[in-house]
Amino acid sequence: MDGNGRWAKKRALPRKAGHKAGVDALKKVIEECQARGVQMCSFYAFSTENWKRPQDEINAIFKLVEDFAANELKKYVDKNYRVMCMGDLSLLPQKTQDSLKEIVDSGKNNTGMIVNIAINYGGRQEIVNAINYILQSGINKVDEQMVSDCIYTAGLPDPDIIVRTSGEERISNFMLWQLAYSEFLFIDTLWPDMDKKDIDYIINEYSKRNRRFGDIK
Ligand code: FPP
Repeated sequence: MDGNGRWAKKRALPRKAGHKAGVDALKKVIEECQARGVQMCSFYAFSTENWKRPQDEINAIFKLVEDFAANELKKYVDKNYRVMCMGDLSLLPQKTQDSLKEIVDSGKNNTGMIVNIAINYGGRQEIVNAINYILQSGINKVDEQMVSDCIYTAGLPDPDIIVRTSGEERISNFMLWQLAYSEFLFIDTLWPDMDKKDIDYIINEYSKRNRRFGDIK
């Protein structure tokens, strides 16, 4: 969800206002994904590297997450969406942890679209954690399936497409294991400006891709 800061700067607003507008965009995007039958969507809300930001901005992001959990995520759970989080939540403020945990637990048996929030998440951290977990169980030879079974998205499909907004063209430690055969799309739209047209564009671009998974057809 990149571009919140630049969106705010363009309007001479504080960065926090960009994140707030980012939440409005997130609501729209989730709604549009649901309307199109997307089965799972993951959103990068806070990376393991985002702790380098000013404390004031970090606090604002966590407050938005708490509010989002209490309001929107709760509604999604009521609509049968499954909400999950990936990342080390133990380092978040207690209130943020509690608000997310409550929602995740209450919707864990839901069968609708999965909304996955990456928070204090890093792809390398996820892989290292998985390998340590496997080693602790006494196994000394690791295979791909074991790693897939020990990451946050165990048992869930890898992303079909990864979209980065705001014109940046890098992955920034996102779903490094899961992205092996994902399609990539880099769009110029700043995250808070995301709307129906962007979702149409993404789906249309995806439908043009020819995925071969290493095969020749
Ligand atoms: C990246 O844009 C955005 C973030 C690091 C924070 C995203 C957080 C939210 C949208 C709100 C809280 C999340 C939820 C799930 C309710 P940036 O700040 O790096 O933008 P810039 O590159 O333009 O400075």
